[in-house]
Amino acid sequence: MELFDTAGESPWLEPIADGLVVLRRHALEPAQALLSAIDRVTAEAPLVHRMTPGGHPMSVAMTCCGEFGWVTDRQGYRYQRTSPETDFPWPPMPAVFRQLAQNAAVEAGYPGFDPDACLINRYARGAKMGLHQDRDEQDFRWPIVSVSLGLPINFQFGGRQRNERPRKILLEHGDVVVWGGESRLNYHGVLTLKAGEHPLTGPYRYNLTFRRAR
Ligand code: SIN
Ligand code: FE2
Repeated sequence: MELFDTAGESPWLEPIADGLVVLRRHALEPAQALLSAIDRVTAEAPLVHRMTPGGHPMSVAMTCCGEFGWVTDRQGYRYQRTSPETDFPWPPMPAVFRQLAQNAAVEAGYPGFDPDACLINRYARGAKMGLHQDRDEQDFRWPIVSVSLGLPINFQFGGRQRNERPRKILLEHGDVVVWGGESRLNYHGVLTLKAGEHPLTGPYRYNLTFRRAR
């Protein structure tokens, strides 16, 4: 049994590339609090499958919290202060989110990170996210902090050009990826989520992505 029981595991740091580290199991301890906060946010601002500018519904369901939320529709990608579903401001960023993101950034070597946007992605079996750059933010000196909860998935991390062959990194429950500096504009995505059942999230994987939008 102990072999499979990760609840007592201590976090460790895996440097992967210039500017990119994986903080393994860093979000394990607050995982339940994070998931409860996700429930509160999604009760206020529902998870939806947004349309890409090309007119295809995304396979991940998403919502946001914090001052700014990232949205996509036929008009393109952008940050905005309100949810398109409710027309109200996004729910505030829960304290447990902010603390985790700031602490992870410090651990990864990016002190002073103060996120004003958090994107919540929910992946069900078959959902994926193609290679893309995060480049709708104003100041690329700030890193991206990305938290994985629930079912495992293969993360792809490529180079600055789309055609560079990405490396594959398995992300498990509680892992936190931080990329900035030399890696900030690198292409990344995730491969298709395989069916499974996680004790805390059931058939889903959640990803929290913290950014400084403005
Ligand atoms: C993203 O790049 O926005 C999501 C990455 C992930 O789900 O791990
Ligand atoms: Fe991204």
